[in-house]
Amino acid sequence: MTEKIRKVRKAVLPVAGLGTRFLPATKAMPKEMLPVVDKPLIQYAVEECAASGIEHIIFVTGRRKSAIEDHFDRAPELESFLDERGKPEQARMVREISNGLRFSYTRQSEALGLGHAVLCAAELVGDEPFAVLLGDVIMEGAIPATRELVEIYEATGAGAIHVERVPRERVHLYGIVDVAPDQPRHPRWGDRLLAVRNLVEKPAADKAPSNLGVTGRYVLPPEIFGYLAETKPGTGGEIQLTDALCRLAKENKLFACIYEGKTYDAGDKLGFLEATVEIALKDPKLGAGFRAYLRGLKL
Ligand code: G1P
Repeated sequence: MTEKIRKVRKAVLPVAGLGTRFLPATKAMPKEMLPVVDKPLIQYAVEECAASGIEHIIFVTGRRKSAIEDHFDRAPELESFLDERGKPEQARMVREISNGLRFSYTRQSEALGLGHAVLCAAELVGDEPFAVLLGDVIMEGAIPATRELVEIYEATGAGAIHVERVPRERVHLYGIVDVAPDQPRHPRWGDRLLAVRNLVEKPAADKAPSNLGVTGRYVLPPEIFGYLAETKPGTGGEIQLTDALCRLAKENKLFACIYEGKTYDAGDKLGFLEATVEIALKDPKLGAGFRAYLRGLKL
């Protein structure tokens, strides 16, 4: 590692969204706290951070999100209650939610877009590289997704994002990349690693430069904050992270890595149900019984 390439210690998790796609469930409860099997959705991203060497999580929150703060805080009364009632395993489970991580919170007071949410974390991140994880997306693979991007950043000094092939009818839901192969320089990732030339946020299928969609995992150099500060509202009238990433791409400082694991987009009801079913099927305690139940359904 050259001196300029610093360790990626911090991750920004934007959680200020209103969760309107899950109403009425999200009227009084943050979308991020909806349980997928037995954990709140956001805990999957936090566990991915812990498995990726991240030490400090910065949540960009909004109004009515205090349940997230409570969830990742210690709960001494609950822990001693469980210990006293002879439930040490449950007590340990509660204790381990925070995974030895440090948590900070800052607010995005207005819904001005993902780019704006990330910019709200600028002061807490400071002058160092950082990860961004969109908590709607659960990514499961042999190597934790964020860890793979951290390794690409540490090997190249450039920003790194995961992409995956998306069907034509879903291209308009993603940031789509325009890429060139990068094989000769970084053979470790083979033809999965691509140099990003440009990105377009949520293009129409016939205007998309490729079918490679941004999954919601990013490792970025701190220069991105300067670009975000200059980014004008784009698609949907919002300040888009994608538009600031274009600036990195134009300077040849952004790689896209085709993700090899499984991505669950739990940001809408159908994706949420798919994540729930598939994760329950893989659960060591629930899987067999749940599979038998599903087999017995008359569909
Ligand atoms: C965001 C990003 C988009 C990315 C997507 C992944 O969009 O703006 O580039 O492809 O997440 O889920 P959102 O889904 O928040 O509208």
